Amino acid sequence: MYNEAIINDTKEMVREKLLNEGTGHDWYHIERVWKTAVTLAEKEKANRFIVELAALLHDLIDDKLVANKDEAVQEVMYWLEGVGVTSKDSERILEIIETISFRGGHSKKLNTLEAQIVQDADRLDAIGAIGIARCFAYAGSKGDPLFDPKLSVREKMTEEEYRKGKSNAVHHFYEKLLKLKDLMNTGAAREMAEERHAFMEDYLTRFFNEWEGH
Ligand code: ADP
Ligand code: NI
Repeated sequence: MYNEAIINDTKEMVREKLLNEGTGHDWYHIERVWKTAVTLAEKEKANRFIVELAALLHDLIDDKLVANKDEAVQEVMYWLEGVGVTSKDSERILEIIETISFRGGHSKKLNTLEAQIVQDADRLDAIGAIGIARCFAYAGSKGDPLFDPKLSVREKMTEEEYRKGKSNAVHHFYEKLLKLKDLMNTGAAREMAEERHAFMEDYLTRFFNEWEGH
C-alpha cells in the first residue's frame, strides 16, 4: 500500500547520507533517478511504492560507496522494518537493489517490472545532457582528459595504459553511454532514451568538429 510518510522519511535519510558523496552517486543523482522512476512507473503502471523506495535506496549498497556490502544490506533491511514496510515489500525492494547493483548484470533481464524501471531510471541518468555532464565530471575527478585521440581506441593503447584504466571522457561514450539506449527494459524508458541518445550523438559530432577547428 502506498504510504507517503515512509517515502518522505526514506528520502530524508538518503539525502543526509549522500549529500556529500563524491563518486557521482550524490543525493541529486538519487533524486533524479527517483523522479524518473516515478514517471516510468506511471507510464508502465507499476507498483509506485516499491519503485520509489527501491529508487531512493538503490545506491546505498553499491560497493563503490560502502566498505561492507552485507552490512549495508542489513542496514537497509533494518531501516525498512523500522519505518513500517511489510516484510514482503522489504524483500521485493532488497531484491531489486541487490540485482541492479550487481556489476555486469548487463545482459541479465530483470524479472520484475519494478526492478526494470529502477534500472532504466538509473541508466537514463547516465545519458543525455545530465549523462554528458556526469561523464566529464567523473573523468575530471580521475584526472582523465576530455579526449585523447591516442587512447580512444583499445588497439592504440599500450598494455600498461589499458591496465591502469587510463581513459578519457569521450572514450566512455563509446564504451558505455552510447550502448545504454538498447539496454532499456521498458518501452517508456526506451522512448526517453531515444531523445537523449540523439542528443549525445549530436554532441559528439560537434565535439569532433570543434576538435578539428571547424
Ligand atoms: P552506476 O551509476 O551505474 O553505478 P558508475 O559508477 O560506473 O555507474 O558511473 C557513475 C557515473 O560516472 C556515470 O554517469 C558514468 O557514466 C560515469 N563514469 C563511469 N566511468 C567513467 C569513465 N571511465 N569515464 C567517464 N565517466 C565515467
Ligand atoms: Ni545510481
